Amino acid sequence: MQYKTNQEVQSENKALEIRGLSLDYIMPDQSIHAVVDLNLVARTGKITALVGESGSGKSTVALAVMGIQDKNAVISNGEIYLAGTDILSMPKKGLRSYISNHAGIIFQDSIDSLNPLLTVGEQLVEAVLIHEKITKKQAFTIALNQLLAVSLPQPEELMKKYPFMLSGGMCQRVMIAIASVFRPALLIADEPTTALDVTVQAQILHQLDSMRKREGTAILLITHDLGVVAEIADDVCVMKDGYIVESGTVDDIFSNPQHTYTRQLVAAAL
Ligand SMILES: Nc1ncnc2c1ncn2[C@@H]1O[C@H](COP(=O)(O)OP(=O)(O)O)[C@@H](O)[C@H]1O
Ligand SMILES: [Mg+2]
Repeated sequence: MQYKTNQEVQSENKALEIRGLSLDYIMPDQSIHAVVDLNLVARTGKITALVGESGSGKSTVALAVMGIQDKNAVISNGEIYLAGTDILSMPKKGLRSYISNHAGIIFQDSIDSLNPLLTVGEQLVEAVLIHEKITKKQAFTIALNQLLAVSLPQPEELMKKYPFMLSGGMCQRVMIAIASVFRPALLIADEPTTALDVTVQAQILHQLDSMRKREGTAILLITHDLGVVAEIADDVCVMKDGYIVESGTVDDIFSNPQHTYTRQLVAAAL
């Protein structure tokens, strides 16, 4: 099977297209319809915000796109086109590497995503070497440049540090650096700034925005903060109880919200 290159995907403008996705969590006594007939597009070089209250199914969507949903999750319907290929119909073999070549993800508590026993440098170099057949020295240079790209000062010093020595904001930038090593077509940021104070929050959002501009990455920004959405997003999908109740450009959503729930959200954010 011939997959599209990231360049070809960029020319088609859709890094991610989810069609009719339904996902249930199966439990011994019941099942939860966490995602129901969901459609969503994340455009190249744009920030798409997925907003909705806690428990509405946002993270479930993110995990399904990355192919790392919980064991009790069953996808009953739909297609997830990542960089032009439906990952749900791909053979198991090669799926993991396909996804990690085309998409990266950062979470709220990035310290949990880093290995506490390895230095920042070791983790970045490892990430680079997974995908590129180059020497350790070349990988080190790429790693250093990745840290510079997310505006981390004194990257040489930082490479030698362990995660516990970093602030929350620095950890999050290191995660962005790792997630963007392969210039993925799509970066998912699941509540990336929720645990950070306001100033640091702004810096992280700025990093995501500059990555979008610099690399043409499509960013799927999951948040419950409509202030953030108004400031940074291009497109918005509003999620409630597993459904997308409304989607459109940020201007549409804020100036002319159609759904009652969206109106409530917008009113609460003003
Ligand atoms: N592994 C799981 N088993 C059962 N229910 C789950 C599981 N993971 C999440 N859920 C439930 O699915 C719904 C959606 O969760 P989630 O996607 O985490 O929402 P959000 O990210 O919007 O807060 C919630 O009701 C949550 O409790
Ligand atoms: Mg969540």
